[in-house]
Amino acid sequence: MKFISTFHISVLLFVLITFSACKESAPMVEDTAPVFDINKQVVSDSAMVVSAHPLATAAGLKILKKGGNAVDAMVAVHFALAVAYPRAGNLGGGGFMIYRDKTGISNTLDFREMAPSMAHKDMYLDTLGEIIDSLSLTGHLASGVPGSVEGMYVAHQKYGKLPWKELLQPAIDLAQNGLKVTEREVAAYNEHMWLFKEFNPHKNAFVKEAVWKKGDILLQKDLAEVLKRIQKEGRAGFYEGKTADLIVQEMKKTKGIISHEDLKNYKAVWRAPIQLEYKGYNIISMPPPSSGGICLAELFNMVEPYPMEKWGFQSAKSIHLFTEAARRAYADRTEHLGDIDFYPIPVEVLSSQAYADMRMQTYVDSIATPSDSISHGNPYAKESEQTTHYCVVDAEGNSISVTTTINSNFGSKVIVEGGGFFMNNEMDDFSSKPGVPNQFGLLGNEANAIAPYKRMLSSMTPTIVEKDGQFFMAVGSPGGSKIITTVFQVVTNVIDYQLPLKDAVHEPRFHFQWFPNLLYHEEGAFSESLLTELKALGHTPKSREAIGQVEAILRLPNGQLEGVSDIRGDDDARGF
Ligand code: GLY
Repeated sequence: MKFISTFHISVLLFVLITFSACKESAPMVEDTAPVFDINKQVVSDSAMVVSAHPLATAAGLKILKKGGNAVDAMVAVHFALAVAYPRAGNLGGGGFMIYRDKTGISNTLDFREMAPSMAHKDMYLDTLGEIIDSLSLTGHLASGVPGSVEGMYVAHQKYGKLPWKELLQPAIDLAQNGLKVTEREVAAYNEHMWLFKEFNPHKNAFVKEAVWKKGDILLQKDLAEVLKRIQKEGRAGFYEGKTADLIVQEMKKTKGIISHEDLKNYKAVWRAPIQLEYKGYNIISMPPPSSGGICLAELFNMVEPYPMEKWGFQSAKSIHLFTEAARRAYADRTEHLGDIDFYPIPVEVLSSQAYADMRMQTYVDSIATPSDSISHGNPYAKESEQTTHYCVVDAEGNSISVTTTINSNFGSKVIVEGGGFFMNNEMDDFSSKPGVPNQFGLLGNEANAIAPYKRMLSSMTPTIVEKDGQFFMAVGSPGGSKIITTVFQVVTNVIDYQLPLKDAVHEPRFHFQWFPNLLYHEEGAFSESLLTELKALGHTPKSREAIGQVEAILRLPNGQLEGVSDIRGDDDARGF
């Protein structure tokens, strides 16, 4: 496998710039060289890592080359993302892991954040019962108890091979020695600078006098110390002792309610995966408290009876069918889904073919069903969105698919003083008030109401697909409510439309979620004639910025692995 080295291009550019600068009237040469080598598509013989940042991908690859397995690489990638990709990579957030071992046994780990013990149903409402603007989105009260460190620790205890200490070292080196920031990261830091200042009067790594520029060095000494404590003490290095003290002190500055007890009591939970058959493939995804697996099952079950492959990739008929299925699945999400440990969810019924068939009885192929006339089914007779996904396949054939988040870009914008990491604003994923949409326009009811220790409903959809009992594909994405439909499109692009993985991931995407009744599509995704056809079918197309940021690994017919990272970010794939 060969990578085109941008190092040589950088050296050439440097020589050119220096040479030009020596000449009196030399024109200015803009530095367009990328900060890192980035691989959007790689084929390898035995192992692969795909993540949202090249340094995190490199950290995972290093661990695999040392003989580590997929879970060891996952831990290294996760902590490296917390340093190199702080908008979504995290210590102060949570996520979900799908694991499939080389023998085909699969398991999932829920390390979703949890409402603090002092949380209550009306905590974001004023005395008139109205939502207090932004309270669940920014500042100390927006955070749930973080789950990521516990998740990594527990997964490693169960499945890891290399010593824990070795897995933390790449992240510690990045935080301590600093890393160059890419153009995309610069844009994100500069755009959020006023918020970093507003919520963090203390000295921190992200606020500086001048604007950030591509290639500047991000040094995170406080974060390095936290990582060293986690390296030395495991989960206790975060949930107890000095780091816990720093989090609780930070909370006490304004209205935060996360206590020492909340941190100490946080537990990651092993849960049976959602599994469904689709056209001869077995799809393995995340059960509640993520809505991902159930909504994905509903979508696949609802579209399976129809010949989408004949109708064609992104044809009006296929998009219409998808929209109608999504309308019904997201209506169900609103009513029925939440934390299964607090609210009875009819998982089996909702993910069954019979239920999907019943829901599609009102489907008409010639006209869109108004969202007002669609409600949830009766299975008994909820800014910018930033999350991140990574996947690993190791040389033994074990695979992982992990989606992790602090919810919005840079979470609650609160950086723990002395700890150097962002806290999540995951409390906004609860339904603060029935009928009032959250930042993703998602609605929710009793199932997803706030309660102490309860986990907020998620859309994260880490997924592994099997064919004939063998690993076929690992896939996932950020994007809030758009995660589910993004994963659905990438899988159907491969299975139904037979697109090469690169196209399946890189082609433009669209999204629909019941309410708002808008068929979102990436700019330029739909031609004028397709837009006309969709409008004639009763849909309301609306263009928007990027939908999702996918990482995927596919097993090729010859047994090699293909890794594809999205063109919508600095995402990077590497293998050997
Ligand atoms: N915070 C986005 C999600 O979990 O769906």
